[in-house]
Amino acid sequence: MADRKRKNKKDTSSKAKASSKKAGEEAKEAVDAQPLETVKKPKKEKTKILFVSPEAQPFAVSGGLGEVVGSLPVSLAKKRKYDVSVVIPLYRGVPGEYREKMTFVKYFYFLLGWRSQYCGIFKLRQNSVTYYFIDNEYYFDRDGLYGYFDDGERFAYFCRAVMEMFPQLGYYPDIVHTNDWQTALVPIYNMSIYHLGFKSIFTIHNVAYQGKYGLEILGDVFGLPAEAGAFVEYGGCINLMKGAIECSSMVTTVSPSYAGELQDPYFGEGLDSIIRKNSFKMRGILNGISTEVYDPSKDKEITAKYTADDLSGKVKDKAELQNIFGLPQNPDIPVIAIISRLVHHKGMQIIQNVMDQILQENVQVVILGVGDPGYENYFRWIQGIYPGKLCANISFNGGLSHRMYAGADMFLMPSLSEPCGLAQMIACRYGTVPIVRETGGLRDSIHDCTMGEGNGFTFQGTDAGGLIDAVRRAIGLYWRKEDWENLKKYIMGLDFGWTKSAAEYDRLYADVLEG
Ligand code: GLC
Repeated sequence: MADRKRKNKKDTSSKAKASSKKAGEEAKEAVDAQPLETVKKPKKEKTKILFVSPEAQPFAVSGGLGEVVGSLPVSLAKKRKYDVSVVIPLYRGVPGEYREKMTFVKYFYFLLGWRSQYCGIFKLRQNSVTYYFIDNEYYFDRDGLYGYFDDGERFAYFCRAVMEMFPQLGYYPDIVHTNDWQTALVPIYNMSIYHLGFKSIFTIHNVAYQGKYGLEILGDVFGLPAEAGAFVEYGGCINLMKGAIECSSMVTTVSPSYAGELQDPYFGEGLDSIIRKNSFKMRGILNGISTEVYDPSKDKEITAKYTADDLSGKVKDKAELQNIFGLPQNPDIPVIAIISRLVHHKGMQIIQNVMDQILQENVQVVILGVGDPGYENYFRWIQGIYPGKLCANISFNGGLSHRMYAGADMFLMPSLSEPCGLAQMIACRYGTVPIVRETGGLRDSIHDCTMGEGNGFTFQGTDAGGLIDAVRRAIGLYWRKEDWENLKKYIMGLDFGWTKSAAEYDRLYADVLEG
């Protein structure tokens, strides 16, 4: 494909320019002589990109990865040169409204190790993207997406099904873009068994989850030949993410800062040396968010809609938020929201260390999330100590999160590591000022406004001091009413959509096809 593209370029640029004026006139006459309907421009072949992902909004989503694979392909499909597809498992939770619109393409059986497995393919076209769904009830007709004893086998099945789907459908993408460990076996299978001509890109959304398994299941479960051990073996076990890094043409991650951090032992979770070795094919591209899903002027989840020009709706949303969380309905008290997985690397320990100090201020704090039982119980406990000041909703609730983005004044996100993070960008979109720790994508998207231009408040350390200082600076500005209004309007106008990042993916795809 790359060669063909390059050849085309030559034909249409240098050669065409060099042709004489006379030849041009002759050609024009010949065209003029033809009946109109037969004059067609030769169609340029589109570059076929397939995203392989364990989740994609709106079909199945458990976090940032699903949101990104929900919005990036749609944004790329707007460029006419791409033919964009996405493939995910057909989980039980895929809503009926989408199942009804799907068409059944075909079924076949293939071998995963020694197991002969059924594979059904369903298809759905939406927003100029073709979605393929891999159907196997034994593996995917379950309540959740992940967290089962056989996740390794389930996603090996998924990857192998994707590889088998190509000849079955006669569909051969130019680029296969895989995401996180669940899809890592696609480039590994291709390098060790299938040898199809596509270029592969592997994106690391979170290095903390690598897909590690005992070496004894290399052939039995993954169906890999012994030679593939050279790609996947690391630290005495199978490490699928390591294998994908080795076998892909390019590796990306979701912010420039995290691309650098991954090469550091503090962030690399043991893979830093592999990433350093492969740094020549590594790029960091900041995620965008869906500006359709997150739009306070259209959001159906929120009580009152609003824009940067008329923020009166946000005042109503704040009152409603205080009502939902059972806090005094006072428009003047600043409300700080936390929406997060309640786990260590999201900075929950720092929050725990400073919560008493934060609550000495004239603030209200609202929390939404699930996670480690230790943190869940901590928040349940502290709301009893500070009734009317702090309220925690220990659950995962999409609709409520929108009402929190809209109704809060500040958004706290003190992650110890954050590959990209979407919540800080969503908060900006709703005019809710982010307070973040300077790491990964948080550092790339939020800049401190204390000393001048910026779109939030930031701090560096992992001790309580930095966080409480940033919160106090935010509260200080909050009381300078005019400056605070201006900051809200400014951050709502920032462009966190996909346009800029899609252009970087555009360059990445061009480079990978050239390479
Ligand atoms: C993971 C990361 C998060 C990122 C998301 C999408 O969930 O933890 O930082 O925004 O993937 O790439």
